[in-house]
Amino acid sequence: MTLVRPIRQSRKLHNVRYDVRGPILVEAQRLEAEGHRILKLNIGNPAPFGFEAPEAILADMIHHLPESQGYSDSQGIYSARTAVSQFYQQQGLLDVTVEDVFIGNGVSELISMVLQAFVDDGNEILVPAPDYPLWTGAVTLAGGVPVHYLCDEDDDWNPDLADIESKITENTHAIVIINPNNPTGAVYSKATVEGLVDIARRHELVVFADEIYEKILFDGAVHHHAAKAAGSDVLCLTFSGLSKSYRVCGYRAGWVMISGPKERATDFLEGLTLIANMRMCANVPAQHAIQTALGGYQSIQELIGPGGRFYEQSILAHRLLNDIPGVSSVRPQGALYCFPRLDPEVYPIEDDEAFVIDLLRAKKLLVTHGTGFNWPTPDHFRLVTLPDVAVLEEAIGRIADYLATLR
Ligand SMILES: Cc1ncc(COP(=O)(O)O)c(C=O)c1O
Repeated sequence: MTLVRPIRQSRKLHNVRYDVRGPILVEAQRLEAEGHRILKLNIGNPAPFGFEAPEAILADMIHHLPESQGYSDSQGIYSARTAVSQFYQQQGLLDVTVEDVFIGNGVSELISMVLQAFVDDGNEILVPAPDYPLWTGAVTLAGGVPVHYLCDEDDDWNPDLADIESKITENTHAIVIINPNNPTGAVYSKATVEGLVDIARRHELVVFADEIYEKILFDGAVHHHAAKAAGSDVLCLTFSGLSKSYRVCGYRAGWVMISGPKERATDFLEGLTLIANMRMCANVPAQHAIQTALGGYQSIQELIGPGGRFYEQSILAHRLLNDIPGVSSVRPQGALYCFPRLDPEVYPIEDDEAFVIDLLRAKKLLVTHGTGFNWPTPDHFRLVTLPDVAVLEEAIGRIADYLATLR
């Protein structure tokens, strides 16, 4: 008997994309298998670029390994949740308790868990454009409809509040705020954060604040927690973790903190607890790193000021990109990326994914196309600014050479 029925992926995945690790990466891997060396500037993964975990984090995890063999509480170990709650208390969110914190295998897992618990079929969730595409993908997978609001490049990539208002319907249930922003590097002013949260307040939306880059800030930029603006009357879920600020994204340690009118959200929070229980717990050794990370010496400070690698690389990438004719890049105020624009008059690109694949084949350099971040037009790409300055110069030189062939 010949079996012919094809084995297909779930229809739930039909509109789900995650291009940061999508077809372009497959092509890069194919080229690598042919023996080419590819410079991969497509994901914000600090370790391959010579960034090492703070020693205290390693020591703490090693110390706790023997006692990390069993499942932990599904919400997370007590010391980690205490450390996270105390971190927010120090930020002025005095009411945060250990009960308000869920620890997860990175923010990624928590985004999926929260959206599975929150979204009903057809619910509209406001997501920024450009976005970190996991948000759009996870909303879709949860049965929701991502509705993209515009961040305005001409206004330093700040969210366009009027555009947000115009996209709210009676079916809108939440708004995602990514601040500091991936891919744009924007850090929102207090007034902007308050403006965003005020929209949520007036339309009874839940706020999902992805603040994973909260400690990667340049030139005196200040990060404002959405939860502070949300106060006691807007339900706010704040996501953060160790991946970026502590350079340990492989350890998978993140958290979500819930603030605001929790008494109105008991049903939702029961659902979130159910989902947390179903996946047993986050990996336990990395949970031990959280207390040490948040309480100890904050080595990130050495990286984000003048002379520090994150800072110098960001400045250099911004300058070199802007030196290329027809390329403009808003200066990042935080995070690990540049999101330059290719002037369509100079580079009439119709398919930016094809552009990125051609660049990869020609120059053995991997970046991510702008539409992969749900940017509506094929005229941007994202560059990760993690390589040291010599490698960045080389990488942007290759981009410049390639673009010269297109003019
Ligand atoms: C905005 C944003 N949120 C979440 C994540 C995922 O973080 P984690 O490693 O904690 O899953 C990333 C990773 O690049 C990100 O850029």
